[in-house]
Amino acid sequence: MLCLDEVSSVRKQVKGWKSQNLTIAFVPTMGNLHAGHMALVETAKNLADKVVVSIYVNPLQFGENEDFDAYPRTLERDKAALENAGVDILFLPTSVMIYPDSPSQSIQVQVPGISSVLCGESRPGHFTGVATVVCKLFNIVQADVAVFGEKDFQQVAVIRKMVKDLFIPIQIRALPTVRENDGLAMSSRNQYLSNEQRGIASTLYQTMTNMIDKVNNGCDYREVEAEGRESLKKHGFRPEYVQLSNRDTLLPATTLDKNAVLLVAAWLGKTRLIDNLSLKNGN
Ligand code: PAF
Repeated sequence: MLCLDEVSSVRKQVKGWKSQNLTIAFVPTMGNLHAGHMALVETAKNLADKVVVSIYVNPLQFGENEDFDAYPRTLERDKAALENAGVDILFLPTSVMIYPDSPSQSIQVQVPGISSVLCGESRPGHFTGVATVVCKLFNIVQADVAVFGEKDFQQVAVIRKMVKDLFIPIQIRALPTVRENDGLAMSSRNQYLSNEQRGIASTLYQTMTNMIDKVNNGCDYREVEAEGRESLKKHGFRPEYVQLSNRDTLLPATTLDKNAVLLVAAWLGKTRLIDNLSLKNGN
């Protein structure tokens, strides 16, 4: 595995592969890799001849009082896992490279509409930070396909819209959420949970599957949301949003939305958990 930290060296390597008609899959990450990330890497390997993974904790997508400093950084362990998985390039951009004139002075990619609802309401600027860094990374790596986790449902929607609107020549694949045995969606932020909170955390998934059952039994969407919110509170969460959404617009779904998605963000102590379940098939 090549570890590269310069735009020119990534471009040179990718250009060489393209001249041999090889295809490239890209998995952007912030590191602290878990089984969910490794599933993205495995899919990337099946989708293309060569796999590029980036690790970069992007300051622009964190709010002032968020966990940018505390975000777990485990580079040596991540490197070993990626090497083991047969990744071809590990790209390690620096902030000087990504934001030469500081993040606030960078050109920023704003995706209107879907960026300002749900997570965008409580994390203003978050999706602009995500779209900006992903756009830069796409331009550097120039892969044929990029692979993301569906756990970050809204993030994937934002990236798809950006790619479509900016005519970025890359295909986007989203993979089902990888879960712990008790249903908790894997996330680097799960390690912020205390033992007691980790026990409670699985009730998020249980509450969500109960909600999906109720919807499938014909219950009213808004009532199901209200009950879901109450159930989370009883378990000790502070729900931020619990919404059955149209999966394209992310606006509140009605029974006319045939394949809506249940989107949830809830705080457990100081940890913010997000999760989603599709109405049609579940995941
Ligand atoms: O999902 C993530 O890890 C990040 O938001 C991403 C897509 C790597 C952009 O920093």
